Formats: sequence, structure tokens, C-alpha cells
Amino acid sequence: MPTLPNERRNNQLYMARFPSGEAGPGDFEVREAPVPEPKDGEVLVETHYLSVDAALRLIMRDSKDFLFRVQPGDLVRGSVAGRIVESRNPDFREGDYVTGGLGVQNYAVSDGTGLAKVDTATAPLSAWLGGMGVSGLTAYFAVTEECKPAPGKTLVVNGAAGAVGSIAGQIGRILGARVIGITGSDEKCRWLTEELGYDVAINYRNGDLYERLVEAAPDRIDAIFDNVGGPILDESLRWIGLRGVVLLCGSTSQYTEEKMAGPANYIWLGTMRARMQGFVVYDYADRFAEAQKQLAQWVREGKLVMRENVVEGDVGDFPDVFRRLYHGENRGKMVIRLPAAAD
Ligand SMILES: NC(=O)c1ccc[n+]([C@@H]2O[C@H](COP(=O)([O-])OP(=O)(O)OC[C@H]3O[C@@H](n4cnc5c(N)ncnc54)[C@H](OP(=O)(O)O)[C@@H]3O)[C@@H](O)[C@H]2O)c1
Repeated sequence: MPTLPNERRNNQLYMARFPSGEAGPGDFEVREAPVPEPKDGEVLVETHYLSVDAALRLIMRDSKDFLFRVQPGDLVRGSVAGRIVESRNPDFREGDYVTGGLGVQNYAVSDGTGLAKVDTATAPLSAWLGGMGVSGLTAYFAVTEECKPAPGKTLVVNGAAGAVGSIAGQIGRILGARVIGITGSDEKCRWLTEELGYDVAINYRNGDLYERLVEAAPDRIDAIFDNVGGPILDESLRWIGLRGVVLLCGSTSQYTEEKMAGPANYIWLGTMRARMQGFVVYDYADRFAEAQKQLAQWVREGKLVMRENVVEGDVGDFPDVFRRLYHGENRGKMVIRLPAAAD
């Protein structure tokens, strides 16, 4: 059995206390632990990329309403991409690249449950946390199965420059719809229209969101892909079209709130015979490979851009990068590239 070099350090990020509002560095604690040793049937994974996900804030709360929760004293949950550095499991070999929900730490052992081997020849390792991973899969199934864009239809995506939104809008455009993106800076608006092929991009911080939506979609909106909820969703609901769909992917703007607010303009759903549809990507787990094949093909054909917002750092940088996500500092999927990725 190979021995691990002595310089390997395993830092782990724990939740220190329940955050109030935005999560800050004081809500987390870094602890140093030994690099774990795999037993029979297990593998040792060296983390190369940490996924930084808005939804983490949603589950960092003192409530039993959520199936998954992170509580003070828990290792912070999160997906990672990394390399098998030791295997005592016949399904994995040393050198295999994998993704899985191993938490925010440099090393983890796993019995293979929930680990997915990924092909770094098809897409770089970081993309398997983004466009080829949960973000891209969420966009793919929510758009194709629920929003159903087509020529003559209008799709509005909020959180449009983020991990899920940036892929969702492009799929809408590939399938022939007119696509309008909503995001929080002029610079991100330019990225959406100039590089991702959005027809229109609106910076919600410039005000008059409703008026600008009416201008961009004179015949009303056929589908709203909602990543952020709150006032942005509410203003968009006023302009939903006949038998439109409002796809509830996420509600990032509400995750930091103690008491989350629902939309006041839901009455338009009645008049317009529209519907709100909940969505969880894992309902499509048996079709992930099919979606990844299609997403990779669109990338090869030059139709789809996958972008990871890579921050060089280590486990201890996670709280600050998480904060930056909530300040809209990412374009595409926010990930931290750990020092081990450079070896
Ligand atoms: N249903 C599912 O199966 C599923 C799966 C994966 C993710 N999700 C959800 O999908 C949503 C998007 O996830 P993601 O990974 O793609 O995140 P993301 O969009 O990459 O990152 C968060 C973005 O949200 C925006 N934002 C932050 N605070 C905001 C606020 N108060 N109001 C409006 N916008 C705000 C920021 O962009 P701006 O500059 O545009 O403000 C920021 O860049 C999340 O809510 C997540 O929980 C759902």
C-alpha cells in the first residue's frame, strides 16, 4: 500500500454557529485533522475543487423543515471534484477523477456511494461541478422538461449569469426561444448578450424591471426560470403570459432571510391560467448521462459556453468566497481550486 507524503494536510471547514443574514467568516471554523486512511472497500479522495453553492445558506438554519441541514459542529456540506489517491475499492483506481458530496475538506474517505467517475478528456475537472455537473443538469432538465422553449416563445431567466442560469438561458436559445436574462451588473449583462447569445439582458439594479421586461417581451413571457425569488420574481410574475410556466429552481434572495417572503403578484397566475412548478434535479438522476452527452455535444459544436469562476485558494478561503457569491461576484459556476490541483 502506498504511503502518503508527510506534507499532506487535511483542513476541514466546520459550521461554528447559525448565521444571521449573510454567512460570514465567524460562522465557520477551520480544523486540522489527520489525512484519513481508507479501509477495505474505501477510497481516499484528494480534493482539487470545492463547489461553492448558494443553497448552502438555505440549510444553515435552526429549522427541522429541511431534509438536509448543517448545524453548528457539523462539517460543512458541499460537493467536490478530486482524484483518487488510494483505492481499496475494486470499482475505483488510483488516478481516477471523481465528484461527490464529500464536504469542505482537503481529503476524504468514501466507500464509493455517491461518487461519480468523470472523464477529464470530455471536460475539465472543474466543469464537472458546473456545466457538466449539478448546475448544468439542473438547467438542462428544468428547461427541456418544464420551460419547453421553442421558436416564437419567450424565456426569462433570473440569476442569469450564475452557474445554473448561464446554462439555462443558452439552452433556451439553442432550442429557438427568445431569451431574456436578468442579472446584477452591466458587465454581466454584456457577457450574457455578447458571449452567451442572450437576446436581451437586464440589470435589475438599474430599476424599472417590470417596464424593461414589458419592453423586451411585448407579447408577455411564456416561461420564467426562477433562481432568485423575491422582488425579481414578483415583478416578472406581473408579465407572465397565457398558460405560462414559472419554474421554481431556487430562491437565492430569500436564503439569507429569517422569514422568507412569497410573491404578492401570484394573482396573475390565475388570470393567465399559468402555473408555478417546483423542481429538484435529482428526480432525473437516471438520465444524467444522457444530458451530459448532449451538453458536451453542444460545447463541441460551439453552441454552449460553460464557465467556471475559479478562485485559487484553500479550505479556509471558503467563507469569503461564499460571501462573494452572495454579492454577485461570480460569472458562471463559483469554485475554489485547491493547491493539490496544481501537483
Ligand atoms: N432545484 C434544483 O434542483 C437546484 C439545483 C441546483 C441549484 N438550485 C438553485 O438554483 C439557484 C442558482 O444556483 P447557482 O448555483 O446557479 O447560483 P449562482 O447563480 O451561481 O450564484 C448566486 C447568484 O445569485 C445572485 N444573487 C445573490 N443574492 C441575490 C439577491 N439578493 N437577489 C438577486 N440575486 C441575488 C447573484 O447574481 P446577480 O449578480 O445576478 O445578483 C449571484 O451571482 C440557487 O437558488 C440554488 O439553490 C436548485
